[in-house]
Amino acid sequence: MTETIGFIGLGDLGRPIAANLLAAGYGLRVHNRTAAKADALVAQGAHRADRAVDAVRAGGIVATLLWDDASVEEVVTRDGFLERLGPGGVHISMSTVSPEGSKRLAALHAAHGCQFVEAPVFGRPEAAVARQLWIVCAGAQAAKDRVRPVLEAMGAREIFDFGEAIGAATTLKLLGNFLLISAAQSLTEGLSMVEKSGFDPRAALDMLTRTLFPSPIYQTYGRMIVEKSGGFSQSPIPAKDLGLFTAAADQLGAPAPLASLLLELRTRGA
Ligand SMILES: NC(=O)c1ccc[n+]([C@@H]2O[C@H](COP(=O)([O-])OP(=O)(O)OC[C@H]3O[C@@H](n4cnc5c(N)ncnc54)[C@H](OP(=O)(O)O)[C@@H]3O)[C@@H](O)[C@H]2O)c1
Repeated sequence: MTETIGFIGLGDLGRPIAANLLAAGYGLRVHNRTAAKADALVAQGAHRADRAVDAVRAGGIVATLLWDDASVEEVVTRDGFLERLGPGGVHISMSTVSPEGSKRLAALHAAHGCQFVEAPVFGRPEAAVARQLWIVCAGAQAAKDRVRPVLEAMGAREIFDFGEAIGAATTLKLLGNFLLISAAQSLTEGLSMVEKSGFDPRAALDMLTRTLFPSPIYQTYGRMIVEKSGGFSQSPIPAKDLGLFTAAADQLGAPAPLASLLLELRTRGA
């Protein structure tokens, strides 16, 4: 019998990840601010927690996959969440947040004797369904060892350990998304130019992704762009994550003119 996990945040990415845990045989106590998003999981056997704190067991494991710094902080500081998690309890924080916010959260957990593992996710909801996620993590070794099977059951294809210092995995996640958004923007501009020139952008994409750019990002986003099937265009994630990247760079005194330009383009919907 595997243990029961608390899972808070059943958005686009949270729902398939929580479903993977259930399918792997974990007991699940789920909570989402908009309660109806838990219905399908409850129908599959998850227990509904009316408040986030009700998903937490003393000394247990609870995962959050909320939107941003503010929502994670709000959830863990309300209704005695950390007091209940208590000594020996581990919180797996999977949202894409700021490194500074993640460090603040880790300090709050330490003050309550709980452990904090940051474990942001690379992969879209479809990748979660296919169990093809890449998860990057940082935190105390014992806590990471304890949650590794849970991360695997969530649908991780591979888990990358960035050590014990909180902020490392979050920084890596922001770097990854900056590179990803840069690639998507370059592809959009480049393939549009090719199309307007009268040549076939599919042939251009095929040649480039079989030779110099044989990367999943160029292949997947390139295909979405030539097929005009969406991709990043409607998502609020790039603006959020570019905001986090530029703020982190600014705080460190690291120049980030390209990230700032991309943020400006996303903010004004260009
Ligand atoms: N989607 C992706 O492709 C993807 C990939 C990698 C990483 N991520 C990251 O994963 C995280 C979740 O993404 P998502 O796509 O699942 O987003 P989403 O569909 O917008 O879900 C966001 C979740 O956060 C909850 N939430 C937001 N503000 C809250 C608050 N103040 N209090 C309580 N709950 C709150 C939402 O509750 P409600 O349902 O009530 O609104 C929902 O459960 C984000 O940090 C995102 O950057 C996403």
